[in-house]
Amino acid sequence: MPGILTLAAVNDPELRAAYTHCRRNVRRRDPVEYAIMQLMPPVLRPACWAMWAAFTTADDIVDAVGDTPADRAARLDAWTTALETELAAGHSADPVRHALIDTMRRWRLDVADLQPSFDTFKGDAHGRRLETWREWSAWVGDTNLSWASQGMTLLARAGVPVPVWLRRKDAYQRYLDGLYLTDALTDLSQDLARGDISLPAEILDRFPEATDHLREQRWSPAVNDLVTHLTGQARRWLNQPGLTDALHPGTAEILRTVTRLFHARLDAVQAAGPALLSHPAVPAPPIRWRILAPARARTALAWRLTPLSPPSPGSGPAIPVPRQVRSALAVQPPPPHPSGARPPAIPADRMPQHVAVIMDGNGRWATERGLPRHEGHRIGANAMRDVVYGAAEIGLSHLSLFLFSTENWKRDTQEITHIFDALRDQLRSELATHDALGIRLRWAGRTDGLPEDVIEELLQAEAATRHHTGLTVIFCFNYGGRAELTQAAARLARAATSGDLHPDHVREDDLAGHLLLPDTPDVDLLWRTGGERRISNFLLWQSAYAELHFTDAYWPDVDRRDLWNAINDYARRERRYGAAPAPLPSPDGPTRQGSKQ
Ligand code: IPE
Ligand code: IPE
Ligand code: MG
Repeated sequence: MPGILTLAAVNDPELRAAYTHCRRNVRRRDPVEYAIMQLMPPVLRPACWAMWAAFTTADDIVDAVGDTPADRAARLDAWTTALETELAAGHSADPVRHALIDTMRRWRLDVADLQPSFDTFKGDAHGRRLETWREWSAWVGDTNLSWASQGMTLLARAGVPVPVWLRRKDAYQRYLDGLYLTDALTDLSQDLARGDISLPAEILDRFPEATDHLREQRWSPAVNDLVTHLTGQARRWLNQPGLTDALHPGTAEILRTVTRLFHARLDAVQAAGPALLSHPAVPAPPIRWRILAPARARTALAWRLTPLSPPSPGSGPAIPVPRQVRSALAVQPPPPHPSGARPPAIPADRMPQHVAVIMDGNGRWATERGLPRHEGHRIGANAMRDVVYGAAEIGLSHLSLFLFSTENWKRDTQEITHIFDALRDQLRSELATHDALGIRLRWAGRTDGLPEDVIEELLQAEAATRHHTGLTVIFCFNYGGRAELTQAAARLARAATSGDLHPDHVREDDLAGHLLLPDTPDVDLLWRTGGERRISNFLLWQSAYAELHFTDAYWPDVDRRDLWNAINDYARRERRYGAAPAPLPSPDGPTRQGSKQ
């Protein structure tokens, strides 16, 4: 197969040496992970070694004993900056970076995808205290998800499709938590030697005696209880039903093998007793072999039955532009409105942070013109583009747009298909504009029922714009407020059953933290066009204190000036959040609460 990259096919001696370095490094440092990588299709193994070697290099810099936190952060910064610079040149004198650069170019991976992980490592270099399991899980995700996603992208690029929804699945995130907790238990002795316990305060506070003993590196019944509790937790997280459904048999077999190996690790943790405090708990080689030998046979068969088609070097899109270069590109202003209208000057403390729009009236607009309803959706896309321009022009931070609700499935299939088509067109035609204007696009909504290619388009648009720091536009697509709250409640219930959260301690923040985009500010201004005065299940939690604004024009007749009017109107309102009205200034002396003018 031309362009295939098994190690035997690498002719360039320097590159071959770089990959061999990574391979040895992984095999020596992490034999179990190395054995798992050997289950991947042969063509992907060198890429896996390079990525794992890079991941562990960053991890080792952060964990270096003896360096000051500032030294560690500076070393990591130097390493990642060198990576970004060398990526454009296609070459590095450092073998791990050299292999990683070849992997990224060959498989068209984007270094920006790894940035969240590097950023988290940088934070770790200064030491961090995690309070709750939720914070711990977010940290695990930030560190590991980008690498796990790269693995999936590699499989997809080699022709082994991985369903796009997998990355968004709660079960998948929890599974990663299970893997990471198992790792933390296995390597407890190493963490303790550094004076570190990588567990959240929430659990340590529940076992205070055990925590003290652990810090003294002393085994006791209390420590035993804590370890038993945590191994049980890790096992529950690893046993996620349905995770391998709809996966390629090769990928499914790898996941199952990983699960078995990590359960064997947990067996070793439980069997280790006091030895857990002095060295890592690893399953005996015969146990590993019993798990790995049949897996090797099964995956080899699965890959043989799959026609793999890796890209040859140099094919495919251009090499991704390193982040530094990209962020240096100037963000352009949006094209002006054809009328020449300019946005009103709104004082910064009167500007809403988040405007949410129910873009209603497409169907009626079309029907009144004797056109099919879908024409309304098609022309409505122009209004949407103009409103996005207007939001960027006035300097808005967040704009949520309601494009398709969980209730809109009640419409006829033809109309729904047209709505999906309009979304696809919109995403494709606007990508360059989003780039030029520094707009970040995000998606809030369910995957259920959506065609795979629509999901893929939305995820790709999110991925392609995730480093933009201008206006954030949230596409609420297949979105429903109740569905979002129900999902958040299910997540809380899961956290309660697994012992991560005590029902008596559930706060509003806990629920808010489980919404679809928890890092988004509350809605300040909710605007609906098309004459109806209802919320139709939009952003129910986030709009709890939103100012409401209703206009009669159908959405296709709307443009950015209507958004500016809405913001102008908002700027004059007094928001109270349940408090009494602000005291009025009195011309002669102290102010009087609630006085009339
Ligand atoms: C809003 O316009 C767009 C969507 C719901 C997809 P409508 O299609 O609801 O238009 P009307 O309310 O029927 O006029
Ligand atoms: C709300 O509009 C949903 C979107 C704008 C996508 P609808 O037209 O679906 O709402 P109802 O049915 O009039 O409440
Ligand atoms: Mg409507």
